[in-house]
Amino acid sequence: MKLPIDKFKDLRTPFYCYDLSLLRSTLKVINDEIEGYPFVVHYALKANANPVILNEIVKTGIGADLVSGNEIMAAVEAGFNPTRMAYAGVGKTDWEIEAGIDNDIYCFNVESLPEMEVINEIAARKGKTAGVAIRVNPNIDAHTHRYITTGTTDNKFGIDIPVLDEVVEKAVSLSNIHLRGLHFHIGSQITTLEPFRLLCEKINELVEHFEKMGVNFEMIDVGGGLGVDYGNPEENPIAPFHEFFNVFKQGLKLRERQKVHFELGRSIVAQCGALISRVVFVKENSIKKFVILDAGMTDLIRPALYSAHHKIVNLTSQEQEQDTYDVVGPICESSDVFSNDEKLPITHRGDLIAVLTAGAYGESMASRYNMRDLPGCHFC
Ligand code: LLP
Repeated sequence: MKLPIDKFKDLRTPFYCYDLSLLRSTLKVINDEIEGYPFVVHYALKANANPVILNEIVKTGIGADLVSGNEIMAAVEAGFNPTRMAYAGVGKTDWEIEAGIDNDIYCFNVESLPEMEVINEIAARKGKTAGVAIRVNPNIDAHTHRYITTGTTDNKFGIDIPVLDEVVEKAVSLSNIHLRGLHFHIGSQITTLEPFRLLCEKINELVEHFEKMGVNFEMIDVGGGLGVDYGNPEENPIAPFHEFFNVFKQGLKLRERQKVHFELGRSIVAQCGALISRVVFVKENSIKKFVILDAGMTDLIRPALYSAHHKIVNLTSQEQEQDTYDVVGPICESSDVFSNDEKLPITHRGDLIAVLTAGAYGESMASRYNMRDLPGCHFC
């Protein structure tokens, strides 16, 4: 992504810098890849719901993947088409279900039988029919961090295959539910295609199984999860969409008029955002040197929460020599570390530091812990 360093000098840090031209190129690649296929892409707002970002995405005709009533409202506000909105989550409350029904969203991705009954009740009360996909837990290991693995039986997500027949029959029998299809999401930051291939096989089996029972699905939602390159963002600014979509083009045995929905979050926005901060102090103890930033885990929690590593760049140091530092934030938590043993050019107080690949799950997970201000944002 481009980083207009000259413009940063007088800006208050920390802030997120978003490269909208990279976002646009990414969206174009996606739309080019799906053209001519019965594929519908939704953007997972949880990755980044910054209104300027949403505005760019909505312009391309992409739909929305939502996980709360407030996300439904944000998607409506941003102008996403309700016929391209899907709403997932294990704990949808009544007002959130109402928001979905009132806005005539395409689909609730239902995660349990009690949830489906409540959606049916609320829809009946409103004299409406709610579109529903049943979220299946396919018990496929996505081989990613355990906090972002969602498709194995020890996760709270989805409905287990052994009870699926019962749930599908129930959905068909409820008069204010319109069963549209099955939904899957096996995890996030998945960096090999094998789990997606296994997912296709599982989907083919299930579609055939339900066809025999007389149930045909208008759509299959395969979720999101495509990983991005955190190690080499400059070399790989756009995720491998061609390879990703190919897995589904080749692997799924689609029925006539059946559509495939995708819910991409990280792969759309991760690389177009960087967290920009200033070095407050450089300090040294008997064993280490620390670069202390004015950004911390309240601005970008991924390193503290998942031990994620983001590439770190000193944007302003003129030094030729490098040194090894722990790059940390100012928060009163020992986990407030961006990176241990990071090699950087010799770094001084006042230097500008960029933490790259921070466009997804950065700003959207920011908090006000320690009564800190939320990070700002600038666009380039
Ligand atoms: N659909 C569902 C049902 C999801 O739960 C998620 C993400 C997505 C789609 C979008 O997945 P993506 O394409 O972004 O992988 N905070 C974590 C990631 C949590 C992902 C939660 N679900 C992180 O910073 O790595």
